[in-house]
Amino acid sequence: MSDDLLEWRKQFSALDDCVHLISHSLGCIPDRAEEYMAQFLELWRTRSITAWDEWLPEVDRAAGRIERLLSAPKGTVIMHTNVSIVQSILASCFDYPEERNKIVYSDLNFPTVSYVWKAEERRGARVHLVKSADGVTVDTEALCDAIDEQTALVPISHVIFVSGYIQDAKAICRKAQSVGAHVVLDCYQSLGTIPVDIVDIGASFACGGSVKYLCGGPGAAYLYVRDDLIETFEPRVTGWFGNESPFAFTMPEQSYAENIWRYMGGTPAVAALYQARAGAEILNEIGATRIREKSLRQTQRIIDRVDELKFELNSPREPARRGGSVAFDFVGAADIARELNRRKFFCDYRPGAGVRVAPHFYTRDEEIDLFFEELLNVRG
Ligand SMILES: Cc1ncc(COP(=O)(O)O)c(C=O)c1O
Repeated sequence: MSDDLLEWRKQFSALDDCVHLISHSLGCIPDRAEEYMAQFLELWRTRSITAWDEWLPEVDRAAGRIERLLSAPKGTVIMHTNVSIVQSILASCFDYPEERNKIVYSDLNFPTVSYVWKAEERRGARVHLVKSADGVTVDTEALCDAIDEQTALVPISHVIFVSGYIQDAKAICRKAQSVGAHVVLDCYQSLGTIPVDIVDIGASFACGGSVKYLCGGPGAAYLYVRDDLIETFEPRVTGWFGNESPFAFTMPEQSYAENIWRYMGGTPAVAALYQARAGAEILNEIGATRIREKSLRQTQRIIDRVDELKFELNSPREPARRGGSVAFDFVGAADIARELNRRKFFCDYRPGAGVRVAPHFYTRDEEIDLFFEELLNVRG
């Protein structure tokens, strides 16, 4: 069948000698990334300190590309290096009086997020963990029931990393807002593979990074703050780029910027933003609706093969709740995944979930079939 999105595959020469079904973990490198990285280095080489005249605006340009992907207003996103630091910055915006010290999330959150909020228990927070019944889904009602007048924060994943389950983020945000709690929505596994309208969802904060579906490599993570909340908080985890006037070098207290830069810390990691530029541009060029359509078709193709082979499916069947990845398990799956990677059929394995695969806009249907053929060859 014709597949318009394969037009963009031409910009990913790294796909020529592998089967890349690992975009939920590491998106493929766009050829243009090398060009942009070369620009970064050339600026450094030829312009020395004056390179900053180009480098610093790149932070806002990178944020602008993420704002477009999130359907977020201008000036609501700032760039950081990873989700863990973003969550720590947000945690440092809060105190935990006894009457509002509860933090609610599920046991299917990405662990790094839990590490940050569990550490807040040392400062008086109380983590309330909602357990998944099946290791695949999170019961929206159970999560919403746990969010009460004592809840300060609800740091959750939009899409669950281990299963690809799409949470009903809008319903959760509605409940949180009704009791005065803030949702921190981790969009790492959603942005780039399903349409995200962060204003419509209603989260107070959102975050994610460029490593996976955004095809940007490591080091370019983002923090979104709802525009009416930007000036409300004063993060204790801070730095001179969060100052209203960094180059005035004032002392001793922080005097926060009035805009989104108040959530910035020290010197931004500009090289990673050049590296991530091509991926974000390409995703904006294609648009999330077309990517989602194709992803649903190809994840269904994967599920059909999983069913034929009688493997255990550990992802949602229902299209509306299924993100970009599919997890399935069978005896010996961990070893087989390792051998598949050695043969350049890229996938991963997670305990309790099994083999995880994710097609992306650049994936050919035949590659899915080739992947399963090779899996059977390895299994013997
Ligand atoms: C949902 C989710 N959040 C966060 C991360 C990573 O966090 P960090 O950027 O701190 O490495 C991942 C994956 O690696 C993820 O899948």
